[in-house]
Amino acid sequence: MTGQIAESKINEVREQTDIVELISQYVSLKRSGVNHMGLCPFHSEKSPSFSVNAARQFFHCFGCGVGGDVFSFLMKTEGLTFPDAVRRLAERIGIDLEERTLTPEEELRQQQQERFYRVNEVAASYFHQLLMEHPAGDPARKYMKSRGYGRTAAGEYQIGFSLNSWEGLKKHLEEQGFAANDARTLGLIRPRKQNDGDYDLFRGRLIFPIYDLSGQIVAFAGRVLDDSKPKYINSPESPIYSKGRVLFGLYQARQAMRKSGEVLLVEGYFDQLALYRAGFPQVVATCGTALTVDHARILKRYVQRVVLLFDQDAAGKQATFKAMTVLQEEGIPAVVIELPSGDDPDSFIQSQGAEAFRIRLEKARSVMDLFIDDVLSEAGSGIEQKVQGVERIVGQIARLSSELEQDLYLKELARRSGIDLEQLRQLKKRINCGQQKKKAYLPPPPPEEEYFPPETPFSGTLAGDSHEVAIQTKDNPGWSRSEKTLLCLFLQNYVSQEEIIVAGGIDLFIHQDAREVAQILLDNSTGGKVDLQSFIDKLDPDKIRLFTALSIYDQGQFSENIDAIFRDCLKSLQDEQAKRKRGESLDKIRQYEQGKDTENLNDSLKEFTNLK
Ligand code: UTP
Ligand code: MN
Repeated sequence: MTGQIAESKINEVREQTDIVELISQYVSLKRSGVNHMGLCPFHSEKSPSFSVNAARQFFHCFGCGVGGDVFSFLMKTEGLTFPDAVRRLAERIGIDLEERTLTPEEELRQQQQERFYRVNEVAASYFHQLLMEHPAGDPARKYMKSRGYGRTAAGEYQIGFSLNSWEGLKKHLEEQGFAANDARTLGLIRPRKQNDGDYDLFRGRLIFPIYDLSGQIVAFAGRVLDDSKPKYINSPESPIYSKGRVLFGLYQARQAMRKSGEVLLVEGYFDQLALYRAGFPQVVATCGTALTVDHARILKRYVQRVVLLFDQDAAGKQATFKAMTVLQEEGIPAVVIELPSGDDPDSFIQSQGAEAFRIRLEKARSVMDLFIDDVLSEAGSGIEQKVQGVERIVGQIARLSSELEQDLYLKELARRSGIDLEQLRQLKKRINCGQQKKKAYLPPPPPEEEYFPPETPFSGTLAGDSHEVAIQTKDNPGWSRSEKTLLCLFLQNYVSQEEIIVAGGIDLFIHQDAREVAQILLDNSTGGKVDLQSFIDKLDPDKIRLFTALSIYDQGQFSENIDAIFRDCLKSLQDEQAKRKRGESLDKIRQYEQGKDTENLNDSLKEFTNLK
C-alpha cells in the first residue's frame, strides 16, 4: 500500500494506543512509580533499564538509549516501515485511516504489486504441493531427506519442487487466470526465442521461496538435485525484488535476532536452514550476493553484532573482509567464526553437531583481528611487503567509527608487527587526511528532525526509511566522545561513583549538558552505583534526551576494555581541560598586554607557564 496517511490520523492512532499494553506483548513490564520497567528488548541486559511511560506514551532504554513512541517501537521490533506501523496499530484499535485517494498511476502500481505478490504466492504453493504430495516430487523428497530435512522444515519454509518440464508452472498460472506478463516480469517464465510462448525458469529444482519482512514472497531460488551446473538459479531483480535488500531467512529469524542481539550471516540457503534447526535461529543468508549497505542497515534494526560465517576459501575471506568494511561503515561490530577448511556451516553442523558449533560461536573473534593476522601473515617478513600490509591495515583501522577502538587496534597492530605505536598513529593521521571524510557512526540524521519530545516526533515525510533514523539514538553534537563514553560507563555502572569523584567529579566534564547529567548521576548513586529507579520518574522529557545522547556504544564493546577505555577518556578530558585553561590564560595575557597592565601580565605569564 502506498497511500498517504493524514497527520491527524497518525496522532489519533498514537493517542488511542496503550503503549504499556502494546509493549507488554514483547517485554515483561513491572510498574515502578509512573513508569513501567523491564528488560530492554533491543540489547541484552540483566537488570531492567527499559522504561515505558504510560502518561507520556513513550519508551526509553537507559542502557542502550533507544526510545520513541508506539510507532517506533513496532518499527524496531517488527522491522516495519513507519506507514506500516501506523496501519498495523490502526487496524488493532479499529481506526479507519481513510488514506488519501491515489493518483491513477499510483493505483495502477499498487494493483500491479499486489498481483506480483499473488503470482508468487500461487507459484510457491504450486511448487510446495509438488514437493509434499505429487509422485513426481519423489526425487526432491529423497534429496531433502538425504540432507536431513523432512516435512516440518519443508512446511516452515514452504520449500517446493519444480517439475522437470518446460511448462509446468506456466500452465498452472494460465489455468488460474494469471497474465503471462506478470509472471514474466517476475522471471518465473521466459519468452521463447522463437516467440511462440513462454517456458519455466525453474525446472527440476528444489525451490526456496524468499520472503520479505512482511512475509510476502518476493523471489525464489532453485537448487539442482544432483551435481549439475548451475547449482542454484535465482529469480531476477523485479519491481518487488532487489537482492541487495533482501536476506534469506530474515522473516523467520527476526524475533530470535532481536532476542539474542546478534545475527549469524551465512552464504548459503542450506546453511541458513541448518543453523536455524540446530538451535541457532538468529541466522540469515545473503541471496547469492555480497553484503550491501542496505543489508547492514536492515540488520542494524535488530541486532548489535554480526557474526560472519563465510566459506573458508580465498573468495570467502574476501567476502568476509568486504562485509567487514560495510558493517564498519554502519558502525556494527562484527566477529567471525572460522570453520575447518572445506566446511560450510551446514556441513560442519552435519558432521560435528550443534555443540561443537556453539563452542566456536563463543570463541568468535573480531573480524578486524582476523584481518590483521591475515594481512600480516600474507605479507611475510620482507620489509616492503610488510610496510604495504601495515598500511593496508591502518587504512582499515582508520575507517572504524570509534576513536577508542581505532587506538586499541593500533596498539594491537604495534604489538603484532613490532612497529612503534607512535609511527602507526602518524600513519593513520596521514591516511585520514588522504581519505575522503568518512561516514559518521550513525546514518545521517534527517534535517534537524527532533527525536524527542514525543508530542511531535514524526512531522515531515512518512517514508519508512527516514524514520529508521528517528529511532536511532541521536548524537548530542556538543559533547565530546570522551564525555559521552565516560558518562555512559558510569550510567551503566561499569565505573563507580567513587572512581568518577576521584577523577575530578563534575569538573571533568566540559559541556554544560554533560555536567548536568554527571550531577544527576552522582546525586543518585547508592552504594557507589547509579540507581536508575531513584530518579527516572522525576526526569522531564528534556532531561531524558540528555541521557539518550549517551548511548553511543553497544554493550558488548565495553566488556573487555573498560580500564583502557576509562583511562583514555580521562586522559583526553584532562587534556581538553588543560588546553582550555591555557586558552583562557592566553586570552588574559593578550588583554593585559593591550591594557599594558604589567602587574597582572606577569601573574598571568606565570600562570601560563605553570599550566604548560
Ligand atoms: P555454494 O556453492 O557455497 O553452495 O554457494 P552451498 O550454499 O554450500 O550449497 P549446497 O550446500 O551445496 O546446497 C553459496 C551460495 O551462493 C549462491 C547461493 O546463494 C548459494 O547458497 N549460489 C551458488 C548461486 O546463486 N548460484 C550458484 O550456482 C551457486
Ligand atoms: Mn553447502
